[in-house]
Amino acid sequence: MIVTTAQLFKHAYGKYAVGAYNINNAEQAMGLFQGAIDSQAPFIIQISKGARKYTDKRMLEAIIRSAGEIYPEAIFAVHLDHGDEQTCYDCIDSGFFSSVMIDASHDPFAENVAITKRVVERAHAKGISVEAELGMLGGVEEDIQVDEGNACLTDPAEAEEFVKQTGCDSLACAIGTSHGAFKFKGRQSLHFDVLEKIKGRLPNFPLVMHGSSSVPQDEVAKINAAGGTIQDSMGVDPKEYLPAAKLGVTKINIDTDGRLVWTRVHREFFRNNPEQFDFRPPGKIFMAEYAKFIASRNELLGSAGQL
Ligand code: G3H
Ligand code: 13P
Ligand code: NA
Ligand code: ZN
Repeated sequence: MIVTTAQLFKHAYGKYAVGAYNINNAEQAMGLFQGAIDSQAPFIIQISKGARKYTDKRMLEAIIRSAGEIYPEAIFAVHLDHGDEQTCYDCIDSGFFSSVMIDASHDPFAENVAITKRVVERAHAKGISVEAELGMLGGVEEDIQVDEGNACLTDPAEAEEFVKQTGCDSLACAIGTSHGAFKFKGRQSLHFDVLEKIKGRLPNFPLVMHGSSSVPQDEVAKINAAGGTIQDSMGVDPKEYLPAAKLGVTKINIDTDGRLVWTRVHREFFRNNPEQFDFRPPGKIFMAEYAKFIASRNELLGSAGQL
């Protein structure tokens, strides 16, 4: 059943984080729903601009509707990930989304406020929630690359001011993570000091952590043993998910880790079965492995067992 993001956040706030998983196709949808049911966890499906373009936005919506029918006991929200203004309006008007993210974090503060305010007005008129972003993560998004030097952590005082001025419903904060598989040089912790200050400024307000993949090193090793060349990868320590949740992080975004599961399964399958060209056997393995992965993440997020 599709619920609002607000309902999910209300139940989770301060206790656990809801996993927000990006999907692009039917195999990911099936693995995600199965894993969520196996772990009895509510979840957020998020769709990026790139995902909407990959086949067709209607295709992805149809896949999600169908998955909801195949797994009627699933409790989930549907969210636009990293939207620009026009894409937000398109998703608000589609009637299918529980929430949208307007990401104007690359614009100056005043411009970010102005754009976010416009989106909030249109979304709230239809009962849809808005996630906005302040601060800048490093790494790669669809058409944007931010190098380490230009990434900047969210300023707690600015965060309070931003929420007050925009009326957004949740805020993506930069607390040291970045998108993709190469987050850190060496082991690093989240900036819990900054997070604590943001929570002090915005008590009871849901915060969002992007770039939260853990990039499991055994997964990367298997990919490389099967022909991959992923070097110097590093992710977030998943044992930090729950401490972050206690400090107000209510939505944790995970995409890259799912891509790694896909890559490992398919590389290993075709390495071990070089005569094969039917994509269904590895597709079946992927769905089962992705379900296992989702259930394991939900355990770490504390969302497992919350249905
Ligand atoms: O933040 C980026 C998400 O991982 C989505 O990635 O834009 O390549 O679909 P994408
Ligand atoms: P990862 O690249 O760490 O999976 O982050 C995903 C994300 O933030 C999607 O918005
Ligand atoms: Na961003
Ligand atoms: Zn993101």
